[in-house]
Amino acid sequence: MKILVLNGVNLNLTGRREKGVYGSETLEDINKEIAAYAKARGAEAAFFQSNLEGEICTAIQQAEDKYDGIVLNAGAFTHYSYAIRDAIASVSVPVVEVHISNVHAREEFRRNSVLTPVCRGEVLGFGKNSYILALESFLL
Ligand code: DQA
Repeated sequence: MKILVLNGVNLNLTGRREKGVYGSETLEDINKEIAAYAKARGAEAAFFQSNLEGEICTAIQQAEDKYDGIVLNAGAFTHYSYAIRDAIASVSVPVVEVHISNVHAREEFRRNSVLTPVCRGEVLGFGKNSYILALESFLL
């Protein structure tokens, strides 16, 4: 089982921005933990982060036939990117949407995701463990 963990805009600042919301572990730290968890479960995780919407779309397109699933935290792209939505709808590789924070307990604009309708499911509000739970959903 090969899983691509994909992070979008501003997620590279995790551990440095809004620590009260996103925690103090860096994305690199979190990715190391995800990689170790995947290995312990007999799976393999690969990682990509970009602040560019098109690069996220390309990563989703290229995941076809290469990965069994995508764990995607698109950051703020979640709330308005029809391009990422269409990329997800264009591939057969299943995508699980992830958020570190509970987006429903925050600003109104974060309550809407244009990605959820084309994702297999969504995990949010469990901090860095949202990624682990999303990964686990592919292994059940
Ligand atoms: C986020 C939530 C988004 O609303 C926000 O724009 C982010 C991070 C999260 O992981 O909680 O950048 O996706």
